[in-house]
Order: sequence, then C-alpha cells, then structure tokens
Amino acid sequence: MDSLTFKNDKLFYIDQTQLPRREVVKECRGLDDGFRAIRRLEVRGAPLLGVFAAYCAYISTKGCRGTRRDFFRSLGRVVLRLKSSRPTAVNLFWALERIEMRAQLSRARTVTQIKQDVLKEAKKIHRQDRDLCRAMARYGEKLIKSGDQILTHCNAGFLATAGDGTALAVIYEAHRRKKKIKVYVDETRPLLQGARLTSWELTKRKVPAVLICDNMAASLMKEGKIDKVFVGADRITAGGDAANKIGTYGLAVLARFHKIPFYIVAPTTTFDLAIARGRDIPIEERDPSEVRTFLHKVQSAPGNIPAYNPAFDVTGHELITAIVTDRGIIRAPFAKNIRKVIQRTSLT
Ligand code: MRU
Repeated sequence: MDSLTFKNDKLFYIDQTQLPRREVVKECRGLDDGFRAIRRLEVRGAPLLGVFAAYCAYISTKGCRGTRRDFFRSLGRVVLRLKSSRPTAVNLFWALERIEMRAQLSRARTVTQIKQDVLKEAKKIHRQDRDLCRAMARYGEKLIKSGDQILTHCNAGFLATAGDGTALAVIYEAHRRKKKIKVYVDETRPLLQGARLTSWELTKRKVPAVLICDNMAASLMKEGKIDKVFVGADRITAGGDAANKIGTYGLAVLARFHKIPFYIVAPTTTFDLAIARGRDIPIEERDPSEVRTFLHKVQSAPGNIPAYNPAFDVTGHELITAIVTDRGIIRAPFAKNIRKVIQRTSLT
C-alpha cells in the first residue's frame, strides 16, 4: 500500500498517526476530512502534503453544481482552507496554486471538463513527485560509501512522499546497491516521526537501523559513530536556508562541530525563491499538549506547565554541506547555484 492512492475516483491514504501499531487506510471524502487529516498529521511530510492537497481540491469540488463562476468560487474557498491547514511546507501551497492555475487556464467549455482538468493536474503532480524521488535517490546515493553510519531525523521516506522519499530514498538506493550502511534514527519528539515512521519504514525495507533518543546524537558523533547526516526539508529559501522538523538545526550545529557532512535532500518543489532568508519562513506552532504528553495518551508533565511547541526550525545555509535535489547536488555558493538549478527546472 502506498502512502496515498487515488482509485475509482476516490482518495485513500494511510493514517500515519496509527503507525506502527496498525496500518489503517482511510478515505478522504471532502474538504473537512482533508483539512483534519493534514492538521492531525494523518497525512504529513512536505511532498505528500502537496499531492494530497491537490487531490483533495478535486474531491472537494467535484460535486459542485452550478456555473463556471460558482465552480471557481468554490475551488477558491477550498484552496484557501487547505492552505490554512499547515504553514511551513511550501509544497502544499505550490500544489494548490498549480491546481487553481490549471483550472483558470482551462480551455474546457463545461464545468465537468474543468473538473477533469483539475483531476489531470493532481495526477500529474502525483506522478512527478514519484519521479523526483527517483532522481534524488540517484544523485544522493553517490554521497554514501560502504561502511557509512548515517544519522537521520523525522521521517523523509515513502510515507512522506508519493515515491520512496527524499533523505530515505537516498538511503534506500545505497542499500539497493549493496552498500553496507547503518542508519541511526532520531526518535523526533514530540510526535515521534522517527521512532514511529522511519523505524517502521527501515525495518520493512530491511535496512540496518538503530533507534536513538534525540538527546543521544551529540555523544554518538563524539564517539565517531556518525559519518554523515541526511535529512529532508519543508521549505528552502533562495539563499539555501532550510526549514525542517524541530531539532534539525541542532544536528547541523553538532555536525559542524564534529566535522561531519550535513546533507539536505529535497525536490525542487520544496524551494521557495520568494523568500531570501530563513527567518522569514513561517514556522508552525502546535498545541503545547503535544509536549506535555506522549502522543496525547500518557501525561509526561504537569497539566498546567506552560509548554512551547514549534514544529520546525531553520538551518542556515552556512551549516549545510550540500542540498541533494532532483536536478543534481547543489553546493555553496548556494544563492547563485540554487538560482541556476531552479531556473532550468520546468515542472508544469
Ligand atoms: O510535521 P511533519 O511530520 O510533517 O514534518 C515532516 C518533516 O519535517 C520532514 O522531514 C520533511 O517534510 C521532509 S519529508 C520528505
């Protein structure tokens, strides 16, 4: 089962909040379902959010009856609501803008045909994401040599994309090519995407992996147990600053201190050239109760202690060794090289 499937005009997805205990597939029946699935992290990971939102826009407007104008008004409302679900991953905004643009530029005469154009665009975004994962894997695996011990954070695998992933796709490719690797997986508090999702994926694919608590990374690096760090991203600025799951910045600082290469793996759809500096990336702040509990179930702090819960942080380009994209590997000077690579990218 893929992280997301579109079949018989219906949208299905794996509810990631239930992993690794149960593999539950849910159907997204409309806007409220889709919005809730994104907000609750049932569907998550920057590239998958884009694909899911695109299909959700179709599902939420396909029943719309009325004139062309009514349809565009309804699509506009759907897009606006989905955009308000989570602020950081730019892929969500990129995909929804593509869907809206496709509808507006449609030469179709009837509303039924415009809806079909919207669906075609969602399917195209889905297909392209799979191809982008393959391309990143091919470029990135060259950075890994047999014997490498790799640290990763959060989940940047097949659950987070429509393909094999970003950072994990690179790892899967190296493993497929029989390179002997070992992956250390940060558990990724507070919502444990590393422990619940990345460990689950790596075990399924039989990649040697060891789970660690987030606060163990520093001593592992000091002991010489980490050769490289590979992580994904939710938004990368024109200057190469990268937002990713909270804790990523700390790893980058540690990696620099211990002289360990730090790689970001992200498709060109994760770049936001309208933003120059990392501090301008909108960072999602989530419910403090996620910090006071383990997965909303076990209380791990007094109920009245104030807690702070930013979901992402930003790693400045100066701490990044290279960014692996579907168009090749980008190194410093990032601003200049990102411009070069993105400008020759045409996904539409
Ligand atoms: O809050 P999440 O689980 O959606 O955060 C996801 C991440 O931070 C991933 O590392 C990022 O989206 C890259 S996924 C290929």
